[in-house]
Amino acid sequence: MLSAEEKSEIDHEITKFPVRRSACLEALAVVQRHRGWVSDDTLKAVADYVGMSATELDGIATFYNLIYRKPVGKKVVRICDSVSCFIMGYDKIRSKIEQELGIQLGQTTPDQEFTLLPTPCLGTCDHAPALMINDSLHRDLNEDNVAQILRHE
Ligand code: FES
Repeated sequence: MLSAEEKSEIDHEITKFPVRRSACLEALAVVQRHRGWVSDDTLKAVADYVGMSATELDGIATFYNLIYRKPVGKKVVRICDSVSCFIMGYDKIRSKIEQELGIQLGQTTPDQEFTLLPTPCLGTCDHAPALMINDSLHRDLNEDNVAQILRHE
């Protein structure tokens, strides 16, 4: 069930589109902002609210890597694994992050603080390797600065 606040925010998004269901991705983003991720029950509630089937909406939710269909930590570290970052040291950066956080790619720390996920190109290839922590972009990574970045996030 959606909260009054979530419905209000989704209603605002719906005003930006000619068709109610066209706001489905924005509606998912709204509930994810409130709940941290999109459970099956939440997905069904959003689908009902925007007027589409849960199956249709799940197809959209699982296509976008910024919609989380499983619980994630408070801070989601998304490390770019596309070609420029891969050439410029992705493996070393990923290993350093895994060592710092004590988790592997795809996992969440036991305190639910960090989740480490891969992401395709972040559009900053001239400053590879790069990652994002929630909405913050970090570029020109190396084994030293990535550890500092994690500690200060
Ligand atoms: S390949 Fe990583 S930012 Fe483009």
